[in-house]
Amino acid sequence: MSHSNTSGRADPPPAIEVRNLTKAFGDLVAVDKISFSIASGEIFGLLGPNGAGKTTTISMLATIQRPTSGTATINGYDIVGQEDDVRRSIGIVFQEQSLDEELTAYENMDFHGRLYRISGEERRRRIDELLTLVGLSDRKNSLVKTYSGGMRRRLEIARGLLHEPKILFLDEPTLGLDPQTRNHLWEYIARLNEEKGITIILTTHYMEEADRLCDRVAIIDRGTIVVLDTAENLKNSIGGDIVTITSPDPDAIAGLLTAPWISAIEQHDGSVTIHLQEADRHIPGIVTAIHQSGIGITSLSVRKPTLEDVFLHYTGRTIRDEGADSKESMRMAHRARRR
Ligand SMILES: Nc1ncnc2c1ncn2[C@@H]1O[C@H](COP(=O)(O)OP(=O)(O)OP(=O)(O)O)[C@@H](O)[C@H]1O
Ligand SMILES: [Mg+2]
Repeated sequence: MSHSNTSGRADPPPAIEVRNLTKAFGDLVAVDKISFSIASGEIFGLLGPNGAGKTTTISMLATIQRPTSGTATINGYDIVGQEDDVRRSIGIVFQEQSLDEELTAYENMDFHGRLYRISGEERRRRIDELLTLVGLSDRKNSLVKTYSGGMRRRLEIARGLLHEPKILFLDEPTLGLDPQTRNHLWEYIARLNEEKGITIILTTHYMEEADRLCDRVAIIDRGTIVVLDTAENLKNSIGGDIVTITSPDPDAIAGLLTAPWISAIEQHDGSVTIHLQEADRHIPGIVTAIHQSGIGITSLSVRKPTLEDVFLHYTGRTIRDEGADSKESMRMAHRARRR
């Protein structure tokens, strides 16, 4: 007979609970009263452009930086006052690489395991299991300096899991990696969430990454959370389909289309972007109305909204506008739009 009685028990506490968390550097408020909570087992994304406050948020939650004001609990422990308990509960992979190039993968893991005082036999068992999980067991005795960018990232993730944390922080896990490597890494991250039940909070400025990987996405911009929901709901919130029409007279088209099933119309660079439900059903009517008014159409395309559209809708800017590696962001945005 079991001693535990699960009936009537409250839901487990959230893995992460953040209330009005704020960080100021002098006059600059890098993180401005953000609040959210992350359920146990969730993959949660902070999506935002360079300088949005993603790393600062992660650093406060990981007890690396002290908040200016506000509170947060990790695995039930307060980030101010219970730092040691918080650190035992989390694994971190930093935005900047932090491996020892002159050591093998195994040695990097082993060194970390000793820091956490994991005993010899147990340490070996976990290292082997984790290197297998991230697909590096056959290269475990190679020096890290011979590793590709994707292999290093996988090794850093494995290392972050060595002390068996319940929660994993990933700061820009696929920054600078090529699309194929990025795809592989997403599979590994999804797998360890599934197989090990680890709660994951990650930051990214890749819309596709947030879209593909995260159960919920918080869009963060200039230190505040602009909107938070599943990627699906975020995209639906700005209308089901997007029709873009280029024309010599976009003003006239924008003025013409006033039907109730149109949720928004935007104009830029000689084109009109129309947010609407059920584009397939309405396009013939739109085209007929434009022709009957004697307005020309140069081209017409239909697509589903992406998180790029969501970002634009809620901030009035594109996420790639201020990217330091904007060429890369633009390529990703372009790819995402084509999907
Ligand atoms: N130690 C610091 N001192 C002063 N300002 C800082 C410090 N750390 C961060 N900032 C500023 O706080 C803001 C947020 O920075 P943060 O690194 O959190 O952004 P981010 O979203 O992680 O950006 P990125 O995508 O470039 O990594 C930026 O304006 C940054 O310049
Ligand atoms: Mg950062």
